[in-house]
Amino acid sequence: MHLSPVGTNRRCFLASSALCAIVLLLIPTLQTPQRQGKLPRPLPHTRPTGGENATDNKAASNSKHSSVTSDKSQRDSGGADFLSSRAKEPLRLKDIFIAVKTTRKYHRSRLELLFQTWVSEAKEQTFIFTDGEDKDLKQKAGGSVINTNCSAAHTRQALCCKMSVEYDKFIESQKKWFCHVDDDNYVVLRSLLQLLSSYSHTQDVYLGRPSLDHPIEAPERVRSDGSTSVKFWFATGGAGFCISRGLALKMSPWASLGNFITTAEKIRLPDDCTIGYIIEALLEVPLTHTNLFHSHLENLQRMPAENVLQQVTLSYGGFENRRNVVPIAGAFSLTEDPSRFKTVHCLLYPETEWCHRSRHH
Ligand SMILES: *[C@@H]1O[C@H](CO)[C@@H](O)[C@H](O)[C@H]1NC(C)=O
Ligand SMILES: *[C@@H]1O[C@H](CO)[C@@H](O)[C@H](O)[C@H]1NC(C)=O
Repeated sequence: MHLSPVGTNRRCFLASSALCAIVLLLIPTLQTPQRQGKLPRPLPHTRPTGGENATDNKAASNSKHSSVTSDKSQRDSGGADFLSSRAKEPLRLKDIFIAVKTTRKYHRSRLELLFQTWVSEAKEQTFIFTDGEDKDLKQKAGGSVINTNCSAAHTRQALCCKMSVEYDKFIESQKKWFCHVDDDNYVVLRSLLQLLSSYSHTQDVYLGRPSLDHPIEAPERVRSDGSTSVKFWFATGGAGFCISRGLALKMSPWASLGNFITTAEKIRLPDDCTIGYIIEALLEVPLTHTNLFHSHLENLQRMPAENVLQQVTLSYGGFENRRNVVPIAGAFSLTEDPSRFKTVHCLLYPETEWCHRSRHH
């Protein structure tokens, strides 16, 4: 092709100006949290909001116009996270899918306490995954009780079977976040919302408490024959963990429609380890470590009392360790409220009817 030098220069000039303009326009979008480091970076702009109408002024003012239309298409496609850091819609409780794993024998002793306390504040998005029919429970909780038809044994297979159903139900729900907890966890909804609000559900986010102080090492039996090993962190299921929708969708080949059970069988590890394996070892997305989730295996008495209500999940000692509870005082004695969940609940929701009653007696 023959081009005159002048023409070439002019074309070059025009082309480079256009390039500059494009680059300038792209700068904000290129600064996605994902590309800035390994861990998902909390969004600096989004503030947790209790209400529906709280908006973030700084961020809203400079991207309002561009995100009005793009926001929706981005959600529909579930993809491109370059817009996520500008998404202005505050996260609401109804955007979170909370799966509570239980078993038939704990419907009375453990679930009743949850229904009386935190679940009553999150009825629409809490789903109980159990392993036996229970008419009383169905009556109380309606459609949010899911009989997984998994075995009631506390075996790896049974636990993985339940996790597999939890995963499929979450994908079906279209909600933005998947959070798994056990039936001995209290979820401080306010703290959960606050924590998740600082990330975008379109980012790859896996949040939880590592159960060990080092990564677990296991033979790689999914991508190879098990002659090599992989190291990965996993969030302990007993303290609860959360996964963004964006990441959950990527887990699909190893987690959806029974594939979770196959994956767990291959590596022969429990359900929460398998989640960590899929995310850290296969998808190479790191666990974001947080100390805000708590299981009954910790020394809960050691938690500073003034921090209790800021945690995301709490727990209490089982039969073997009855006195291992969070150190919080309130309207109920240890005998009346051995788990401390009622006490915590009344401090968070003092208007609850039975909280009033306890004060007068
Ligand atoms: C927004 O929230 C404030 C404070 O909670 C309230 O006073 C106001 O009426 C709300 N506005 C709208 C439009 O809902
Ligand atoms: C469990 O079995 C019942 C009865 O066959 C069925 O209606 C239900 O959908 C099954 N649950 C799951 C999660 O597959």
